[in-house]
Amino acid sequence: RNRIGLIGAMEEEIELFREQMNDIKETSRAGLTYYAGELFGAQVVLCKSGVGKVNAAICTQILIDDFEVQSVIFTGVAGGVHPDLNIGDIVISSDCLQYDIDASPLGFKQGEIPYASASSFDADEHLVELAQRGAESLQDVQVVNGRVVSGDQFIANPERVQGLYKQFNAFCVEMEGSAVGQTCFLNQVPFVIIRSLSDKADGTASSNFLEFTKLASERSYQMVKNMLQTI
Ligand code: ADE
Repeated sequence: RNRIGLIGAMEEEIELFREQMNDIKETSRAGLTYYAGELFGAQVVLCKSGVGKVNAAICTQILIDDFEVQSVIFTGVAGGVHPDLNIGDIVISSDCLQYDIDASPLGFKQGEIPYASASSFDADEHLVELAQRGAESLQDVQVVNGRVVSGDQFIANPERVQGLYKQFNAFCVEMEGSAVGQTCFLNQVPFVIIRSLSDKADGTASSNFLEFTKLASERSYQMVKNMLQTI
């Protein structure tokens, strides 16, 4: 049976999904609530991970171990990094990495996980394709396939955004995706991250985030809804 783990970090990012789920069975693990049920014809386990990489990794591992999901979709909002992207646009992850891991005094590159076999994690090609197909009906929104970078920081600074673009070729920045990606990679579970931009991670990021998180969450929801309907 094809069961899909669906993660968002914040209430805004998951509430639309929970409202549409049928036959919900609720379970608590590690302080998180998991909603198992039917959503747009798919078997889904939905969870609000909380913010940051640790929360996201724990949530993902529990989805894999206890709920036996066969794939993971992350849905939510991000700060735009690629200069051509605007608020509301959507990034489908090509791959993801943690920009804030830094053992450079030991000779490792920034973003490189010391002694690990991989530091960036590729999204599943089939899930990316499904996401791209799910985007075809969306209007007045750019949908791109690019790198998602994650760190335990809310970025609200133009120099830092430019740095993330130049150094990592990031398309968007957020606080969970790469933890989900790494956990899925280690467990050999396919994943994809869908992020709609709530802000551009610059000087206006804080006020834009508050203003546009609802809109961006709806965009991401629409994308994932279209995806689930084809799974
Ligand atoms: N999520 C949404 N906007 C963000 C930003 N500017 N930095 C980190 N995570 C975000």
